[in-house]
Amino acid sequence: MEQSLIFDREMLQRYDVSGPRYTSYPTAPQFHEGFDDTTYAVQAERSQADGVTRPLSLYVHVPFCDTVCFYCACNKVVTGNYERARSYLDYLDQEIALQGRLFHPERPVEQLHFGGGTPTYLSDADLDRVMDSLGRNFNLADGPEREFSIEIDPRALREGTLPLLAERGFNRISLGVQDFDPDVQQAVNRVQPFEVTAGAIEQARACGFGSTNVDLIYGLPKQTVETTRRTLEQTLELRPERLAIYNYAHLPERFKVQRQINEDELPSAAEKLAILETTIGMLTDAGYVYIGMDHFALPDDELARAQRAGTLQRNFQGYSTRADCDLVAMGPTAIGRIGDTYSQNVRELEQYYARLDAGRLPVFRGIVLSDDDRLRREVITDIMCHSHLDFGRVEARHGIDFRDYFSAELERLAEMEQDELVRVGERELDVLPRGRMLLRNVAMAFDAWLDRPEAAPVKYSRVV
Ligand SMILES: C[S@@+](CC[C@H](N)C(=O)[O-])C[C@H]1O[C@@H](n2cnc3c(N)ncnc32)[C@H](O)[C@@H]1O
Ligand code: SF4
Repeated sequence: MEQSLIFDREMLQRYDVSGPRYTSYPTAPQFHEGFDDTTYAVQAERSQADGVTRPLSLYVHVPFCDTVCFYCACNKVVTGNYERARSYLDYLDQEIALQGRLFHPERPVEQLHFGGGTPTYLSDADLDRVMDSLGRNFNLADGPEREFSIEIDPRALREGTLPLLAERGFNRISLGVQDFDPDVQQAVNRVQPFEVTAGAIEQARACGFGSTNVDLIYGLPKQTVETTRRTLEQTLELRPERLAIYNYAHLPERFKVQRQINEDELPSAAEKLAILETTIGMLTDAGYVYIGMDHFALPDDELARAQRAGTLQRNFQGYSTRADCDLVAMGPTAIGRIGDTYSQNVRELEQYYARLDAGRLPVFRGIVLSDDDRLRREVITDIMCHSHLDFGRVEARHGIDFRDYFSAELERLAEMEQDELVRVGERELDVLPRGRMLLRNVAMAFDAWLDRPEAAPVKYSRVV
């Protein structure tokens, strides 16, 4: 399995097109409103019709934040009024109960993720309340195989929160950092001293959390190669098991808060590439392996091991080690994956409340995958997760002749092959170290939705 990476500035510039991130295939813009809560219930039933109690993965969205970060593109509600969270939890309880009724009570929940917004916006008593509610309606696993994770904003972490979460079974945390430079922090309205982040990681380790992820963003205002170097040196001192390095998506027409960013302070395209090059060089030298799209991990972290074992999966959080779980997603905008379907909840809190007041699940759109979608999803997952595609394996599972079925797609890869980004053999395809920063370009060659006339037009973020 290819885990090495070569930074090739010229290739990154040449192939810098915009494209999907393939956290699902088909991607969310292709979900449609013909798929509603009734379709969802039928699919949930179907996912267990064979009587096998397959494990579940749960996602819980907590949309609140205390203060706003100017770069933020997440689905959040910024409020100092805690009453809003209390009302939300009443509705979330209802959704958890409605969802719980659809699934066999013995299906073990092996994976759980609290995302946001900021899940730790909730008081400790309310975090406990959500866990109680989940425990009443689902069979939460209690063995070492469980993978329970939560996104933490270190600025607002209370003394007792991590011990409480550890007691409730959480064993992974993800921390928002973005950058350690005080000027950059000021420019994005997120002042978070190094000691605050270091303290949170230290406490998490003392509480027994086995894996810590740190989120960084490159392309923020006032960032330079020099500030990046210092931020990474500080990050490496903390040696998180996982790192996410996101490319700043600046879309001020879509995310109003980004209009507070002074565009004159954004690094130029050339500076941004240099920042990325520095980042990759420093992380690789420090022993991190590139998992794929934005994600790095230490070689003995479960993600890196899953990649070597060929069991890594792509999911809405990036990458995951669990392949066989159906994903039940709760809260506004949450996206679920049940059997061969995806589904998404309504976006606004008002709509979310109105649906639940009517006793209905807040699912508003989704898609049932066709045979072709399922086949391509597998191909794209192999590319995004393993940088490798075994034609024989795909043929055996889908009853096709790979070279025949994908002749146009393989032709589309000719230029990347010439540029030594991929190698297409008689029976396999490999993404080469120089092409691993361009995984989504390779995946796009197999995406049948990109040029369908009926497909929804979308503005995707750029590769670099
Ligand atoms: C939903 S946020 C949750 C983290 C938590 N609220 C915090 O800030 O500590 C997840 C991550 O998305 C990333 N992110 C947010 N807006 C972004 C943008 N415009 N471009 C790239 N990454 C972004 C940040 O790295 C952030 O930590
Ligand atoms: S980055 Fe996190 S804390 Fe900041 S506004 Fe977005 S969701 Fe809230």
